[in-house]
Amino acid sequence: MNVLGTTGPALHDASAALFVDGELVAAAEEERFIRVKHAKRRQPVNAIKFCLAQAGIRPRDVDVVAYPYVDIGLASPARWYYAHRHWYEPARALRAIFDGNRKGHRKRDSVLELLDELGIGSRRVRFMRVEHHLAHASSAYHLSGFEGKTAIVSLDGKGEYATSFFGYGENGRIHRIKEFYDPDSLGWFYGALTEYLGFEIQDGEYKVMGMAPYGDPTKYDLSRLIRRDGGSFTVNTRLINVIGRRCYRANGKEYSVSPEFVRWLGPARDSDDIDEPYIHYAASAQRLLEDTALALIDHYVGDIIRETGRLCFAGGVALNVKLNQRLLAWPHLKELFVQPAAGDAGTSLGAASYAATSLGEAVRKMEHVYLGPSFSTDECIAACRKHPRQPAWTRLDDAPGRAAQILADGQPLAWFQGRMEFGPRALGNRSILGDPARVGMADRINAEIKYRERWRPFCPSVLDTVARDLVQSDHPAQYMTIAFDVAERWKTRIPEVVHKDGSARVQVVSEATNPRFYRLIGELERHTGNGVVLNTSMNRRGEPIVCTPTDALDMFYGSDLQCLIMEDLLIAKG
Ligand SMILES: [Fe+2]
Repeated sequence: MNVLGTTGPALHDASAALFVDGELVAAAEEERFIRVKHAKRRQPVNAIKFCLAQAGIRPRDVDVVAYPYVDIGLASPARWYYAHRHWYEPARALRAIFDGNRKGHRKRDSVLELLDELGIGSRRVRFMRVEHHLAHASSAYHLSGFEGKTAIVSLDGKGEYATSFFGYGENGRIHRIKEFYDPDSLGWFYGALTEYLGFEIQDGEYKVMGMAPYGDPTKYDLSRLIRRDGGSFTVNTRLINVIGRRCYRANGKEYSVSPEFVRWLGPARDSDDIDEPYIHYAASAQRLLEDTALALIDHYVGDIIRETGRLCFAGGVALNVKLNQRLLAWPHLKELFVQPAAGDAGTSLGAASYAATSLGEAVRKMEHVYLGPSFSTDECIAACRKHPRQPAWTRLDDAPGRAAQILADGQPLAWFQGRMEFGPRALGNRSILGDPARVGMADRINAEIKYRERWRPFCPSVLDTVARDLVQSDHPAQYMTIAFDVAERWKTRIPEVVHKDGSARVQVVSEATNPRFYRLIGELERHTGNGVVLNTSMNRRGEPIVCTPTDALDMFYGSDLQCLIMEDLLIAKG
């Protein structure tokens, strides 16, 4: 059975994913093809076409199309709760009661139209709609490979109305225990602060996380933003998660915090040069997010975690690696699977896995994120020939070995190989690499890529043979979704990838999942003694990660980087 998941024209992070007989064979984000970050309100046309081509199937071979968005009926408490909490904005409140998520109908109609345009056929195919948070939940649970009862949590901005999901999976079925509704949203809370701290909402959250260790979380008490008592959780909408007339407005921008919030904490941060007092707000916000999420997870699924030791986690908040570090510190939590595409890009995958399982197909464990397009060395040569900069290339017999030599010589390197990653992290196929032992390497890469954002973390990709020694844990960490404390003796060995708080967001690399990258790091270990490489995504500020060889060349020539390896080609400036 061929099951295609599509986000439709998602508010952000449009994507598509394809399962063939229960196996995830392709997935990609539309932003990579159209070169517009987050592909807001765009249909994942290119992503769908890619998935079909990758699997070698025709549009009319698709049996099921799954879409992660449903209509919420009037009988659901969600619409009434939304109306009640947004009564200060009567038009919006009444619309929730009388119309519901009517926009959802329009979106669904546009998805059906697209299926006809692509030759999939909206009438022929089985079209299945899946609740947004069930899609997130499925993307974590059904792809985790966990057997037996498993706690499931999804936390994000919001789906239809729900902002969070607490439940469990058993025998392939997902059971709901509790959900919260808009405006009580941890994702939106963190997003509103992200915006207030001068970054883009649903984009810069990881920078707030990067900023937090520089501040003192006890300096400002932000606890009045969230009221929590046992299992209840309410966001203070006099201050944050506000809409309409309650929004603070400045510089032609509407914020998700209120004027009262700004009177309390000061104007929104509008320059990346200003740190005080905003780093302390970031620290407090991070602490409040962690404390609230941990308390709610413990309240609703703590008994299941204590019973089974397993948790699956998705939704944008699941990309908060510091929260995940604290989760993993729970002694009773033995196995934590965070869906690597935890944000909304992962809902195409989750809708498809949910649809497939509900039709009786067993979905297999996700083994890696190398689910996008790949390009042969010949295709890289063709791209060089067509490129206006007329790059000269050298063909390599041993690209990983040469890459390690370049890194050991102290040069950063753009490294392009294999299938593009699905999800927000570059995990060794569309990466910029450096030697993490060389002091100043991270700053140098930032300078060479030009205008790279401050606060963007640099992460270590680590051989599986040294991971245990480095992070003192055997827990799987394939996807840079969890932060770990770095062992003292390693902190001075690889200073460029250790955060201010002594932690690192590691990717543990195994030979089975990425043999070429594994070999590269192994060769680097021969030179430097450290089986670790600094890894950051191959993109310039404000651009998506590169997809094609041409994108890689554009990025390379738009930067001061000196070396690019694409498959078996070395392209060096100079
Ligand atoms: Fe979501």
